[in-house]
Amino acid sequence: MKLLKDYPLLSYNTFGIDVRAARFLEYQSEEELQAFLLEEGLEASYLHIGQGSNLLFTKDFEGTVLHSCIRGVEVLEEDDRRVHVRVGAGTLWDDFVSCCVSRGWYGAENLSLIPGEVGASAVQNIGAYGVEVKDLIEAVETVDVHGIRRVYAGETCGYAYRDSIFKRPDMKQVFVTRVRFSLDKTPCYRLDYGSIRAELAKHPVIDLPTIRRVIVDIRQAKLPDPKVLGNAGSFFKNPVVPRRQFETLLQQYPGMPYYELDADRVKIPAGWLIEQCGWKGKALGRASVHLRQALVLVNLGGATGHEIVALAEAVVASVYDRFQIEIHPEVNII
Ligand code: EPU
Repeated sequence: MKLLKDYPLLSYNTFGIDVRAARFLEYQSEEELQAFLLEEGLEASYLHIGQGSNLLFTKDFEGTVLHSCIRGVEVLEEDDRRVHVRVGAGTLWDDFVSCCVSRGWYGAENLSLIPGEVGASAVQNIGAYGVEVKDLIEAVETVDVHGIRRVYAGETCGYAYRDSIFKRPDMKQVFVTRVRFSLDKTPCYRLDYGSIRAELAKHPVIDLPTIRRVIVDIRQAKLPDPKVLGNAGSFFKNPVVPRRQFETLLQQYPGMPYYELDADRVKIPAGWLIEQCGWKGKALGRASVHLRQALVLVNLGGATGHEIVALAEAVVASVYDRFQIEIHPEVNII
């Protein structure tokens, strides 16, 4: 176990914000975490992070930042059709996807190259290209702030679009230690999102490595690499609007993209709304709206969290002025 004081968080947040944590605790196992919580305990202020790929720090963190080094993929059970695995929360998400692809396990490939760690994937219900991680999760193993272990079955995690019970303020004291996934051992591809089929048509065979390659290429063409340009992926969630408002908008903007949800509600890509407001590629100070995907805000170099927040607020205000639609951050602002 590592317990350090006044620790730099620059390499623990993909926005690349230069802040520090008063204390930083990194643990290797559930037992180590439990022993710390029972013997030392945490003060009121603490924050459990993964890779910091969905966080925006606006100031130094005065409490304890926790980080899991519980890693690895363990097969619990398998037959000819399915495999059930248990994965450490500190495993890099994309390392897990890569493992699934190389072992011929189907289901996670559309989620290739999403930044972050496995623990955070289960909190945030990450999603891309028609798949959400909730579709694969069987159970979430946790330890709470008092050191008590509890396993939540997937159906009890309250999964919804980029949401779960683990994001509720009262669940802040529950730390994910491992996630159990169920994957297919026979092909079951999901190829209907956006340009996936068109891109796949350029390849002679459709198999897991090809789908992973295509998804990686699509992402790399649109989304900035956090190692080059600090960012946290989509900064905003795609808003859901009532059908009446959607229909009025569609008359005005016949080319507007949208996703049908149900009889009453339609989801509109926030990236399109932001682009329509003229923000694509525009900067405020050292923070900018990304040139190739307006849903992503980037740190042009040395930006403070406040500069990014100021840009986000300006974007929210102009989307509201033009469309009377409120967009909300997906990123956690600390
Ligand atoms: N669009 C624009 N301008 C833009 C961006 C998008 O017009 O600047 C349009 C696109 O042309 C397309 C539509 O909006 O018609 C949707 O765009 P895209 O497929 O890029 O997806 P998205 O809705 O913007 C969501 C997720 C992404 C995920 C993609 C692919 C959210 C908040 N974001 O973005 O997730 O990779 O779908 O499935 O739901 C993330 O969460 O960090 C993330 C990157």
